[in-house]
Amino acid sequence: MEKTEEKKCRHLAIIMDGNGRWAKAQGKPRTAGHLAGSDNVRTIAIAADELGVKYLTLYAFSTENWKRSENEVNYLMKLPGVLFGKYIDEFVERGFHLSMIGEVDALPKETQKVLNNAVERTKNNTGLNLNIAINYGGQREIVLAAEKYAKDVLDGRIGLDITNEQFEQYLMTKGMPNVDLLIRTSGEMRISNYLLWQIAYAEMEFVPESWPEFTPEVLDRCLAEFEGRDRRFGGVKNE
Ligand code: IPE
Ligand code: IPE
Ligand code: MG
Repeated sequence: MEKTEEKKCRHLAIIMDGNGRWAKAQGKPRTAGHLAGSDNVRTIAIAADELGVKYLTLYAFSTENWKRSENEVNYLMKLPGVLFGKYIDEFVERGFHLSMIGEVDALPKETQKVLNNAVERTKNNTGLNLNIAINYGGQREIVLAAEKYAKDVLDGRIGLDITNEQFEQYLMTKGMPNVDLLIRTSGEMRISNYLLWQIAYAEMEFVPESWPEFTPEVLDRCLAEFEGRDRRFGGVKNE
């Protein structure tokens, strides 16, 4: 018999997609969609915490999103300030532990300051791990990990034959479990360079709702569906 704990989603990753289309459908600029989307981060983080998720990794900005207009990129870079300006006290109170993955050094200084401050203020918390992927790309992450590993080999700190678990220590998600469930909103069925290593055995759900329309009820449904799935990890059922 499987224990129900084993069926639970510990690490949930979400590709928060569809902000622009959501705004367009309402005759608003794309930025209005991003603002609604950033408010929904708070709603869904609280819901995920209450539903027992331990790690929530949210895709906020990809290494490819720099291709967008200057206006949109500038707006997206200001959003962490807006989000944490409104909600950091509440996140601290709720015991959230904030972290980031991505090449944070390449973000505008002001954005880095806001993010580092949020990490600092929540560093001793042991509740929901709210992990923001910003200027993140899965391929870049693996290349950077390989570079660090190569340096350690050259410096004689580690040998040439390492396990997957040892390699994971070089990834930006070091210390986190691999992803159990990946949800993408807005009906697109692709990965867009997200957590390529960590989703090796993740379950996937693609929902039609755009990110601003993704409610705690939809999340609850997704987690229920996840718990009903039979994850075999390459093995055989009931063995
Ligand atoms: C997701 O919404 C947010 C980011 C990628 C930053 P989009 O901005 O991609 O919205 P659509 O997909 O164009 O509707
Ligand atoms: C993925 O969404 C990135 C984020 C949600 C931050 P995109 O909207 O950038 O992905 P594509 O371009 O449709 O694949
Ligand atoms: Mg999109």
